[in-house]
Amino acid sequence: MNRNNIEYEFSANEIIKYGRPKIEEFYKELIAVQQLYSAAIKEIRTKFEILDDEFKAKYDYNPIHHIESRLKSPRSIYGKLNRKGFEISAKSIRENLFDVAGIRVVCNYIDDIYRIADLLTRQDDITLIRTKDYIEHPKENGYRSLHLIVSIPIFLAEKTENVMAEIQIRTIAMNLWASLEHELKYKSDSDVSDDLKDRLKENAEAIYKIDTEMQAIFKEVHSKDNLSDGQCRGMR
Ligand code: GTP
Ligand code: MG
Repeated sequence: MNRNNIEYEFSANEIIKYGRPKIEEFYKELIAVQQLYSAAIKEIRTKFEILDDEFKAKYDYNPIHHIESRLKSPRSIYGKLNRKGFEISAKSIRENLFDVAGIRVVCNYIDDIYRIADLLTRQDDITLIRTKDYIEHPKENGYRSLHLIVSIPIFLAEKTENVMAEIQIRTIAMNLWASLEHELKYKSDSDVSDDLKDRLKENAEAIYKIDTEMQAIFKEVHSKDNLSDGQCRGMR
């Protein structure tokens, strides 16, 4: 990476704090792994798209509303390794960071989340490393989503590399809340007041109620077709 990239990514303070030679060294290490993570994103996105297409063909129904993905930025990777006291190297990224490749699947209904998660993790080449069910067990602030850490093989010319990725699966409504909450958290310079936290949490609860209501309506509408029977129930 050239000078300009470092200047563009890192703030002047960070360059002083970390030291330019260390950042330059880090970029060399990063190049080797970035391609693997972007390959993991492509593979996993495609898997979800194929599942969604299959549902469309079979049931004339799309469980997935849309998919977002991102590669963690060099600055965020460096910052996280540094914050957690990990070595700054390609090996350390591979061993310690699970969210360099991030895929967010936004579903229509709650049941779709578990269904899609189940169908993905049952695939032969996917290894489920960790599940965090923030839907059954929401975070203190009200945040809801299903988080999976998976490992997927990436077939290269000379070898196969197993690469970790973080998958967040949530409904459109949960996504609305999480996006706004994220923005509010980062926009406000000072801590969010207790009153605002309470209001945000109340809205998260209200959104969850809407999600469960919409799910019930969907089930009623589709009570006579295959979509509501056991084969689609997912992993709950
Ligand atoms: P970290 O990556 O260090 O946070 O590890 P962790 O194991 O605590 O991650 P966790 O699975 O709890 O969350 C990972 C990601 O989920 C975050 O980077 C966010 O994208 C999302 N997330 C988690 N909690 C919240 C939250 O309270 N609000 C919003 N908007 N997003 C959240
Ligand atoms: Mg994170």
